[in-house]
Amino acid sequence: QTNLIINSDGRMTTSLNGSWQIIIDPYESGYYNFRYQPRSDGYFKNYRPASKSELVEYAFDDSQTLRVPGDWNSQNEMLFYYEGTIWYKKSFDYDLKENRRLFVYFGAANYHAIVYLNGKKLGEHIGGFTPFCFEITNLIKAQDNFLILKVDNRRHREGVPTSNTDWWNYGGITRRVNLIETPSTYICDYKIQIENNSTPQIKGWILLDGANKEQTVRLSIKEASVSQEITTNSDGYGAFSISAAMLELWSPEKPFLNKVEIKAETDRIEDRIGFRTITTQGDQILLNGKPVFLRGISVHEEPLGREGRAYSVEDAIKIFDQVKELGCNFVRLAHYPHNEFMLQQADRMGIMVWAEIPVYWTILWENQNTYDNAQTQLWEMITRDKNRASVIIWSVANETPRGDARMKFLTRLITKAREMDDSRLISAATEITHKDGYNVIDDPLIEHMDVIGVNEYHGWYGGKPADTPNIKWKSVYNKPLIMTEFGGGAKYGHHGSKEERWTEEYQEYLYQQQLKMLSQIPYLRGMSPWILKDFRSPRRLLPEIQDFWNRKGLLSENGERKKAFFVMQNFYQSMSLKD
Ligand code: GCU
Repeated sequence: QTNLIINSDGRMTTSLNGSWQIIIDPYESGYYNFRYQPRSDGYFKNYRPASKSELVEYAFDDSQTLRVPGDWNSQNEMLFYYEGTIWYKKSFDYDLKENRRLFVYFGAANYHAIVYLNGKKLGEHIGGFTPFCFEITNLIKAQDNFLILKVDNRRHREGVPTSNTDWWNYGGITRRVNLIETPSTYICDYKIQIENNSTPQIKGWILLDGANKEQTVRLSIKEASVSQEITTNSDGYGAFSISAAMLELWSPEKPFLNKVEIKAETDRIEDRIGFRTITTQGDQILLNGKPVFLRGISVHEEPLGREGRAYSVEDAIKIFDQVKELGCNFVRLAHYPHNEFMLQQADRMGIMVWAEIPVYWTILWENQNTYDNAQTQLWEMITRDKNRASVIIWSVANETPRGDARMKFLTRLITKAREMDDSRLISAATEITHKDGYNVIDDPLIEHMDVIGVNEYHGWYGGKPADTPNIKWKSVYNKPLIMTEFGGGAKYGHHGSKEERWTEEYQEYLYQQQLKMLSQIPYLRGMSPWILKDFRSPRRLLPEIQDFWNRKGLLSENGERKKAFFVMQNFYQSMSLKD
């Protein structure tokens, strides 16, 4: 895998989205021979019989197709439950001129992808929610290139996530595929941020990749009257720190995005970047130096009104319109990095983001490969989104059982996150303990975090909504608390008494009672109730009510508002009036 190219939208790209030919291969016969050894003549060769008498037991040419981007589960009901390998093939021509380079870029593929071009293996990627790319400059032909992927969405105990999750295991090339053409030495990566201190100072670095690494680069931010020359060294790296007194800051009220131009001698790129500071002071969260309350909601990466994985700009706009309608200034993009359009939309609409890698529940903490996998996904998430003003929190875990191996694993990840980006807050969603009638926030991991994330379900997984307001909380830390999950299930349109499970009235009452309890916690600085919309889960089986849907949404899977939606909307509206 080469460097991970960022900001593909700012580059010369050719989309490979659309209809790809596929072969469903449950026994991986396109990869292993009958002795279960890797084949040299696998499906990635796209071999066609030389004569009518030759035996070949596969063909892409007249096979069925799948749309890319898009999970396979929701495109073909035969694949709704499918966990295994599907081969994808796309043919294309490309005229690459002298002194130009070409990369193939994948927004994501779940879970394990092996990529081949013209029969040659480019590489592999593990992890279903982060981008990856490979250079194909020396392999591309003017005509009839064939790009083939083996995508295997089987779950693994040693995986990240592990084999048990509360979300659907959507497989496939789930996000966009682009060819990216660049000059022979190009602007590969950059970080442009504002210092988290008083005087507005823009700092960061630029990285060139190619033969001609030492260049004079000009960074221009017109609206901030910044125009600065940067010289890159023999590694192609150039750092800068520029005073920017005129800088207009990014905030939920005014999500101002600067047009940023990076002009090297051999390449030029534009990006839209917001500048804001995010810090904590005692148990307060400060945005641009002022205390802020995060009025949030949790979101899985599913579209409104359609089955499957969300992947498009339209999906992102529909989701964020509902987030805005709810009265939010914050969103928890659970439990994995979402597609880039979600982050771009959050930047544009002024919604702060909790971003998370899928280190979820019972990860194999002692397995080195598992750690390397988690760290790679963290690196890919931060590399991709480090210039997005909306992202204020990197989360390294969700509801992970306490223990020494888990502490070692997660503190190593936190150290890595801080090394990569010391400008954002670090957190994780943790569990509480119950002592002497208190809900106690005492996970030792919190020592290493800037803000506390806690998931609690009083009134749903234990306790009665009637008793919720009497619950008392205690925190052993003087840090801001975000209640990263609370809530309960209801089937839209199912009505009855507020004591009856699965009615909208039960969920509505639970939310009213939860908010009474939460309002009593003085160091509570944010919340992201679970969850915006009902979502698919293999663990939710109650016939007529769940049928493989987790029903904790404030919206049904079709975007219909349950009564609890209005409880949260009123709460946030009354709160923002106080701001
Ligand atoms: C857990 C978990 C979620 C899950 C939710 C639930 O807290 O973090 O991923 O969906 O509870 O049980 O519905």
